[in-house]
Amino acid sequence: MLWKPILLALLAPTIHALLRFSCSQLVIERLDPLVNPGISQSPHLHQIIGGNAFNVSMDPAISPADQATCTTCTFSEDTSNYWTAVLFFRARNGTFKRVPIKGNSGFESSSGGMTVYYTPTIASTAAKVTAFKKGFRMIVGNPSYRTEAEAKQFRQLTYTCLQTITTRTGETLDFPKKPCPVGVMVNVRFPTCWDGVNLDSPDHMSHVAYPQSGTFETNGPCPATHPVKVPQLFYEVIWDTTKFNDKALWPEDGSQPFVWSFGDKTGYGNHGDYVFGWKGDALQKAMDSNCNINCPQLKTQSIATGNKCAQKQKVPENIDGWLTELPGGMMVQ
Ligand SMILES: *[C@@H]1O[C@H](CO)[C@@H](O)[C@H](O)[C@H]1NC(C)=O
Ligand SMILES: *[C@@H]1O[C@H](CO)[C@@H](O)[C@H](O)[C@H]1NC(C)=O
Repeated sequence: MLWKPILLALLAPTIHALLRFSCSQLVIERLDPLVNPGISQSPHLHQIIGGNAFNVSMDPAISPADQATCTTCTFSEDTSNYWTAVLFFRARNGTFKRVPIKGNSGFESSSGGMTVYYTPTIASTAAKVTAFKKGFRMIVGNPSYRTEAEAKQFRQLTYTCLQTITTRTGETLDFPKKPCPVGVMVNVRFPTCWDGVNLDSPDHMSHVAYPQSGTFETNGPCPATHPVKVPQLFYEVIWDTTKFNDKALWPEDGSQPFVWSFGDKTGYGNHGDYVFGWKGDALQKAMDSNCNINCPQLKTQSIATGNKCAQKQKVPENIDGWLTELPGGMMVQ
């Protein structure tokens, strides 16, 4: 009776499900309710997307889902907040210009923002994944890192030099060294194992971990300290560097001209922040149904509707024009 399990294996669906959606820019401002709660303004500038409950402080006991009245995400039950630093071009004369952000392939009409993925599993058998819980937060990456050895402590915080809008190969841990014809895509992938207890931790990282062996992609097991498998959260941000592609504008010493808003010219300090804020059990339902890209189990709104949720800076600050210093006076180092 050997045929039976073999037949079942052949009939089992291959699961490559994931949610992929866009969230337009909510605001670009110097606030960070995770690292600098209550402090207006935070040391460096961020691009924030998601629900409009984003604020100087965000009490972990109050879910954004209970406060937000709109979201910039196309899945309208997602009022989470997602943020990264902001990219600047540094001219030969030392002034800085903010690099615009553009919508991803398929989401061209979003105003900047990011593409967000939640992947339950890459394996061909669907192991149940536990969605993030109300109050959950985390950070991946470290803005003080400037070396490859440091950056390698995180997996898959990378840059893709876009030859076309759909280039997905050639990821690097540092900024691309040559002009990228269509822009620079920043990839921020979070750890996929949770301790199952703490919704946050003092460093906003130690309650999550990477698989003990292998990777998320090879379905590696979670460590005993962090046994609960959570979806792989992944941001893609496309920085439209194209208007700075003229090599005559690049530094005379042959280095690349882009710097993060926290003063990093290497790229190794790439990092991202997350505050969970899905309504009810919408994310768990989506993960359980293994829906792929589009998800009939979820409520959807148009990109145009999402764009309307954009906020004004709570502390108005000039972030455009040729700036003599990075916002907040961050030094390039
Ligand atoms: C942000 O916080 C301030 C001060 O606590 C409050 O007045 C304001 O209503 C909050 N805004 C939002 C969008 O929650
Ligand atoms: C600095 O360089 C940029 C880019 O070449 C230029 O647009 C800007 O006007 C310059 N600013 C000053 C103060 O020279």
